[in-house]
Amino acid sequence: MDIHRIGVIGCGLMGSGIAQCAAESGCDVRVKEADEALLVKGLARIHGAWDRAVTKGKITDDQRQEWTRRLQGTLLFTDLANCDLVVEAIPERLELKLQTFAELDRVLGPAAILCTNTSSLSVAQLSPVLAPHRLPHLAGLHFFNPVPLMPLVEVIRTLATNEDTLASLRGLVQKLGKTAVMAPDAPGFIVNRLLVPYLLDAVRCAEQRLATVEDIDTGMKLGCGHPMGPLHLSDFIGLDTMQSVAEVLFDAFGEPRFKAPALLRQLVAAGRLGRKTGSGFYRWEGEKRQEALPL
Ligand SMILES: NC(=O)c1ccc[n+]([C@@H]2O[C@H](COP(=O)([O-])OP(=O)(O)OC[C@H]3O[C@@H](n4cnc5c(N)ncnc54)[C@H](O)[C@@H]3O)[C@@H](O)[C@H]2O)c1
Repeated sequence: MDIHRIGVIGCGLMGSGIAQCAAESGCDVRVKEADEALLVKGLARIHGAWDRAVTKGKITDDQRQEWTRRLQGTLLFTDLANCDLVVEAIPERLELKLQTFAELDRVLGPAAILCTNTSSLSVAQLSPVLAPHRLPHLAGLHFFNPVPLMPLVEVIRTLATNEDTLASLRGLVQKLGKTAVMAPDAPGFIVNRLLVPYLLDAVRCAEQRLATVEDIDTGMKLGCGHPMGPLHLSDFIGLDTMQSVAEVLFDAFGEPRFKAPALLRQLVAAGRLGRKTGSGFYRWEGEKRQEALPL
């Protein structure tokens, strides 16, 4: 199936990025939020990005108008009824996702594909609220933050996902100008399974005072050619998010390398969640990283 009409559930950090990229790629997009104020805020993030692109001369005003026409917000599941694909990007809570998938299953046509952008839950766990005919059309579509900049999408298959669904999703990822990798429905998929233990090890190095926060980051940035150091990246992801992903992975694999270090828990308990709260390993002013904070 050539996916053209896309529904996105949630217009937060990830949902707004997915909706933006889909509209830019020529798809008709309907994005659903939980309430009016959040919808206005999410859409403003997308329109702001397009306005900046016009100001910098990266796109024309006609282009912006065309993208704007293709993107519509809603508060109603029923407005997604004729979508070819719906991608869910609401908070990482199973009960919330189950309610949403049950609603979507009721309103969508029988051929529509349903995807979750979950980072750590099992995609197949969403099956019980779906009609049996939907199970071959259920998959994971795991985007990376910030969606407009990150070129990878993990396509996750359950044991029931069929080949047509996977082919349609691969085609969509290509249309979005991104690269797809196929991943199994296993905790952490590919990227987080490898990335999270590395980040947790960096936290352990800081905890054990192996070196300063800045030197750990500079070491990995300049020594390994990474675009940013692991503690900087942890602040960027959100330390609470890292803690919950680590818990899921530790539950699944029981290996010490997936265990959230005490320092990570202490920072989260102190409200130092990283960039989004203005402090984590570093102090932040908006998007700009400042000096490392005492540990
Ligand atoms: N943040 C990341 O770096 C990242 C990366 C990859 C995947 N993810 C996954 O993406 C999902 C969303 O994460 P996020 O960081 O965008 O969260 P977020 O909190 O920024 O956005 C979630 C949005 O969903 C909305 N929402 C909640 N219930 C809703 C409902 N019933 N209908 C419509 N909207 C609803 C919320 O109002 C909020 O705006 C999670 O599953 C997360 O694990 C996050």
